[in-house]
Amino acid sequence: MTRSVSQTAPQTANAMWGGRFAAGPDAIMQAINASIGFDRRLAAQDIAGSRAHAAMLAATGILSNTDAEAIGEGLLTVLSEIETGSFTFRTDLEDIHMNVENRLKEIIGEPAGRLHTARSRNDQVAVDFRLWVRDQCDAAIAGIEALMRAFLAQAEAGADWVMPGFTHLQTAQPVTWGHHMLAYVEMLARDASRFADARARMNECPLGAAALAGTSFPIDRAMTAAALGFARPTANSLDSVSDRDFALEFLSASSICAMHLSRFAEELVIWSSAQFRFVRLSDRWTTGSSIMPQKKNPDAAELLRAKLGRILGATVALFTVMKGLPLTYSKDMQEDKEQVFDAADTLMLGLAAMTGMVGDMTALRENLAAAAASGFSTATDLADWLVRALGLPFREAHHVTGTLVALAEQQGVDLPDLTLDQMQSVHPGIRAEVFAVLGVENSVRSRTSYGGTAPDQVRAQITRWKERL
Ligand code: ARG
Repeated sequence: MTRSVSQTAPQTANAMWGGRFAAGPDAIMQAINASIGFDRRLAAQDIAGSRAHAAMLAATGILSNTDAEAIGEGLLTVLSEIETGSFTFRTDLEDIHMNVENRLKEIIGEPAGRLHTARSRNDQVAVDFRLWVRDQCDAAIAGIEALMRAFLAQAEAGADWVMPGFTHLQTAQPVTWGHHMLAYVEMLARDASRFADARARMNECPLGAAALAGTSFPIDRAMTAAALGFARPTANSLDSVSDRDFALEFLSASSICAMHLSRFAEELVIWSSAQFRFVRLSDRWTTGSSIMPQKKNPDAAELLRAKLGRILGATVALFTVMKGLPLTYSKDMQEDKEQVFDAADTLMLGLAAMTGMVGDMTALRENLAAAAASGFSTATDLADWLVRALGLPFREAHHVTGTLVALAEQQGVDLPDLTLDQMQSVHPGIRAEVFAVLGVENSVRSRTSYGGTAPDQVRAQITRWKERL
């Protein structure tokens, strides 16, 4: 994790906190302690937080305007050095906060030492990380909405295409392709709303909590909160530096979203198999086999099926880190970042891959229709007809239909292939009009209850989603 970081031999005490230390840390101590290998990803947030802090220190008269301006300008120089790659990250300076401040001192000299007035790395890292996670919530919502639009386009193309609906992965009732696609739109909308809820809850600024108890300097926390786009400052300084709920909520929302991706990924693996042939995945999202020339493997879908393992792993890891920690800050909490970074990267990659795959996939309409008609998928329609047309109690209708299914199975045919005579041998009241309900098109068209699979219902939902997106 510190591979690309320059290793300075730790002989002298740390310049930032080494006043009471005669010697520097052991090299292995430095390796376990340093976070610069990963928290450099917080550089932009760290500098934004420091600039807001310095401006506030000047506005409240804690710092001279001259010093604050030098700090603000100097921090922009540091930021551009980091962005252009000319900045040297140093492990002996532990983390992003001290790396930035040290470089600031090299650039502007003495005023740099005044930046840390009325502040601690504890509130500093809390604000940096919140800003980062807040941005990731926005990115996740945008990624989810792109995927929703891809599903919506599929739904629109095949609003009335019939396919088998499954329970227990056994053919249950015919449904429409559009309805199946919209099921994922619903799931993803809940995912987006979870990120939006988490974002709103985390949008409070911990800066100014200082180490844990607040500060005796006359700071203006409302000012820094507003400058960083937070709704308000956090209300309890102890909670401010020890809270990582925002990261846990982000990971939890990511886990649920990744679980949804995993479920559709599994459907794609099944649907694209030679046994199902419900969809064709494009060459862009599949790979070949080095030994079997006929193969087209759904690797992207398989990886998406697996990625939840990693994101949920990060979630469990951070819960385990936070469990049982006494107030307030403990160094354990430094273990929060790599988990969140990896989960966020994994989720964004997964959303992008799924969006590409859904956009490119071709539903094989004839195969879907043929499968929809097999497996006695309209047995429920038959039972419902017996209730409606003959006034049978549903339980009796269920029994009669079951007998008919057994008869068809024994004859090696589907329900619509039974003759009227055969039907009447099971129940004499059955009339020829029953055959109308045994067709899959009629079956799906009849399911007009709100949220049902009928094409009219599906089209109404598509309209609603198009307005919302
Ligand atoms: N690198 C630390 C972290 O990620 C920053 C805070 C350090 N605070 C401290 N009191 N040592 O949590």
